[in-house]
Formats: sequence, structure tokens, C-alpha cells
Amino acid sequence: MTSALDRPGIVLGIAALVLNEGATDHNARDVIAAAVDSGVVALDTARAYARLDDDGVGERLAAEGRERRAGLPILTKAGHYRAGASAWHSDGSVDRIRADAARSVELLGAPLDLLLLHRADRVDDLEESVATLAALREEGLARTVGLSNAPIELIDRALAVAPLDAVQNRLGLGVDSFAEYRHCREAGIDFFGYAPFGGPRAAPLATRVPHVAALATQRGASVHRLTLATVLDVLPGYWPVIGSTRPDSARDALAAMTEQVDDELRDALLGDLASRGVPV
Ligand SMILES: NC(=O)c1ccc[n+]([C@@H]2O[C@H](COP(=O)([O-])OP(=O)(O)OC[C@H]3O[C@@H](n4cnc5c(N)ncnc54)[C@H](OP(=O)(O)O)[C@@H]3O)[C@@H](O)[C@H]2O)c1
Repeated sequence: MTSALDRPGIVLGIAALVLNEGATDHNARDVIAAAVDSGVVALDTARAYARLDDDGVGERLAAEGRERRAGLPILTKAGHYRAGASAWHSDGSVDRIRADAARSVELLGAPLDLLLLHRADRVDDLEESVATLAALREEGLARTVGLSNAPIELIDRALAVAPLDAVQNRLGLGVDSFAEYRHCREAGIDFFGYAPFGGPRAAPLATRVPHVAALATQRGASVHRLTLATVLDVLPGYWPVIGSTRPDSARDALAAMTEQVDDELRDALLGDLASRGVPV
């Protein structure tokens, strides 16, 4: 297994920057620039982060972000595409994955750092999709490959076909279990946990991690920053994929990568997660 990224840290996902109602390229560029300048370790995009009149916008914006920092890794995903105003279809066939990967290489201007099967849970023939990803890795179109939206059973089925380098699943803190992260960790697979704050419609993070929130108030830092700092500290092999849509929230979240984590903070987060029934 090869690691897609050479260091731990936070990834900026750009789905909302493209797909949210009222999203503009101008704001997307500002948020991505703020994240790149604040040390984001990678950008996360997909063939599916598209507009009806522009199927390449999500990857093009990521490629522009990389112009600010040469070599910044970009994660992308194949086999899921926008088919209408509020319709996305999944297709894990050989032809679709190969065509998606070729288009991603064209838009990103380089072999892919990490190519994920976007909806592993929705393809007809997972084994065929995984064999195709492995062939693309072998051919050098993608340096590393993996699955997204893959429960443990699908991860194991895929591993019977070919080694996986990474998995990207939802890991809402205080919401989702860490079982998939642990499973990947034991198998030596990098884990990208998307929507750590539960996404844009979730209840406020402070309600799920009240002891971290209290420390945040005491220390004059945001609960988002302290939560991310602590999960980076306690979960090796886990990269949170955040969805900030403002430059300020991106800067604030990314400052977690240099925040000092002490025992009081660690105990607060571990206690909060345990009392939500999702212990680390
Ligand atoms: N593989 C998949 O199928 C899949 C599915 C969903 C998402 N994803 C990836 O995961 C990414 C993140 O998903 P998400 O948007 O649901 O994640 P999220 O980061 O859990 O939620 C985004 C929300 O968190 C808020 N936030 C971020 N930093 C903050 C801060 N420092 N202070 C206050 N609020 C803060 C944002 O506020 P503001 O809007 O005010 O900045 C936004 O409302 C997506 O962009 C995408 O790349 C992947």
C-alpha cells in the first residue's frame, strides 16, 4: 500500500464550493486560496462536483488551487456523475472509470495522486470496478487508488481483488462510529473522513462535543479548531476532509494543524465521543 499524502493534516473538500445554491467560482477561488496559504495538505474533488453547463468545474478549481503551491496533492473520484439539476448517477463499469480517469488527468494536468471509486456502495460489480482501478494504478494514470462510501464488507471484498491505498467515508465526529477507520488502520489503508462537522445541515458541533466547546471558550479558540487538532493528535492515519465555504472558516479550521493538544483537551474529546456512544 502506498500513501497518497506524505504528511498528516487537513484536506479541503470542494463539493459545497461548486454545488451549493448560489456558489460562485470567485468565492471558491478565495476559499481554496485561503486553505492553500494556510497549509492544507490536499484538495478533495470529484468528477461529480460539476455544474450542468460545466462538467469539469470541480477539478478545474482544484487544479487552479495547485498553481498556488506546486505539488499540492489533489484527490479525485470516478464512477459517479451529475445527470440533472438534482440527479447524480453511479456507474462503476470499466468504460466509465477509464473515461472518468482520463478526463481527470486532462483537467488536473498530471497523473492522479489518488483516484477513488466515488460510490462503492452503488456499483453493480465492485470486483470489476476495483480491478479497473488497480489497472489504472499499474498503468501510471493514478499513483494511488481506493474506495469511497465503502462499509467494511465492501472494503474486504475489494481487498480480495487488489490492494487499496485509501478509503474515504463519512466520519461525522460525535455521529459516526470509528469502526471503518479502525478496520482501515489495521489493514494499513489511509482513511479520509469526510464531513467531520456533520456537514452544513448538522446540529452545531458544540452540542456534540460540549467539553471541548467549554475549553474552546476558556482558551479563546473555536470548537472546530480544537476538535480537529485533537482528532489529528489521537487518530494516526486519519485525514479529516472539511467543507468550509468561507475563507475565514477555512483559515480557522486549518490552524488546527499547529494547535498544541494537551491531556485536558484529549480527555475532553475522548469523553465527549464516548458519551455520544461513538468512542474512539
Ligand atoms: N466521498 C463522498 O461521497 C463525499 C460526500 C460528502 C462530502 N465529501 C467531501 O467532504 C467535504 C466536506 O464535507 P462537508 O461540507 O459535509 O463537511 P463539514 O466540514 O463537516 O461541514 C461543513 C460545514 O462546517 C463549517 N465549518 C468548517 N470549518 C469551520 C470553522 N472553523 N468554524 C465554523 N464552521 C466551520 C462550514 O461552515 P462555512 O460554510 O461557514 O464555512 C460548513 O457549514 C466535501 O466538500 C467533499 O469534498 C465527500
